[in-house]
Amino acid sequence: MKVAVLGAGEMGKTVIDHLTKSPYVNEIVAYDINKKQLENLSCPKILRTTTDLNNIISDNEIKLAFITSSNNAHKELTLACLNAGKAAMCEKPIANTVSDAEEIVSTAERNRSFLQIGFELRYSKLYTKVKEWIDTGLLGQIVNTHCFYVCSEFFGKKSWRIKKSLAGGMFLEKLCHYVDLPRWWIGDEVVDVFSACAPNVIDYFEIRDNYNTICKYRKGAVSQLSFMMAPAASFEGDPLRNYIDQQHGDGHCLQYFIYGTKGAAETDVFGRSIKRWQFSDSEKGMKSKLAEQLKWPAEEDHFYFHNTTDQTLDIVERVHKGLPPRTPAKDALESMRLSYAAELAGETGRIVRIDEIN
Ligand SMILES: NC(=O)c1ccc[n+]([C@@H]2O[C@H](COP(=O)([O-])OP(=O)(O)OC[C@H]3O[C@@H](n4cnc5c(N)ncnc54)[C@H](O)[C@@H]3O)[C@@H](O)[C@H]2O)c1
Repeated sequence: MKVAVLGAGEMGKTVIDHLTKSPYVNEIVAYDINKKQLENLSCPKILRTTTDLNNIISDNEIKLAFITSSNNAHKELTLACLNAGKAAMCEKPIANTVSDAEEIVSTAERNRSFLQIGFELRYSKLYTKVKEWIDTGLLGQIVNTHCFYVCSEFFGKKSWRIKKSLAGGMFLEKLCHYVDLPRWWIGDEVVDVFSACAPNVIDYFEIRDNYNTICKYRKGAVSQLSFMMAPAASFEGDPLRNYIDQQHGDGHCLQYFIYGTKGAAETDVFGRSIKRWQFSDSEKGMKSKLAEQLKWPAEEDHFYFHNTTDQTLDIVERVHKGLPPRTPAKDALESMRLSYAAELAGETGRIVRIDEIN
């Protein structure tokens, strides 16, 4: 199968690398508006490059396109591919506004096209373990999740990510993953979102560097996210490569606490650990005991966290076999709606109802 990658930056390079490992891919075409980005690509035999979008759109042999440009170009590129009859994988955040995201998803539905969004944490061995515990009933009904996330400023002053008009905001660019997971685990829809944000520490950001966000679900569950960018120690290099080793014990933290009616779980990226507690009743009162703890070796970090490898290979296989996306784009759109609501709540300081976001 011939596959295109639109946007040859860090994520584009990562996807190209994964694609070269797929048994279904025999040719890759990389497109970018910036010629220099294409020159930087390591060039296996099956890779071609172009700065002309028409070469992608008019090539009927290209069946699948990965949209890995900066967020502001997702809409133009994804719609062009879908309307040309291609399957598409669009990186999160789908688009920078809810109306653009809705247009992309409804175009895919109307054309009956394959469209999957880049929520690769749903392929993470760490977070799928939690889902497995939930689906087999070990945790009971999930009533509360809390994510505690502290990192360093790794965007940099020159990045498009710190510009509101290009990135959309911290929730759109980064935190959408961390509200998507609780939605997936809880299996219900959010009705209200509240974000309390302190003044920025990073004064050159046009976007917020901290969020305390609380989501209230229809059936009563609550999920909370506490995020701060800046306090953890800085490091050089791509945060997606060997970063757990680099950041372990230097102030970085990414933990979820997941509470159900029958048990609880804790995921700890930097501790490379996942735990499960089981609740029971006794004459004296409720008891909880540690029932399971799993650890993983450093070589498995990628698969336990941002597992873009399995996501890319799975998408290619699905398109090749004519199967639907693993996560429907409509589902991803609801996590994005939640992210736009969290951004709006941060801007206005009020509770935002999800049904306002359309
Ligand atoms: N799922 C994740 O965990 C994850 C992680 C990192 C990045 N991303 C997403 O991947 C996308 C790319 O991020 P990145 O880190 O590779 O950024 P990057 O800055 O390294 O690369 C972006 C590339 O897009 C190109 N580009 C910009 N406008 C374009 C256009 N109109 N047509 C074609 N190419 C264009 C730029 O020239 C650049 O090469 C973003 O949407 C980002 O949110 C997702």
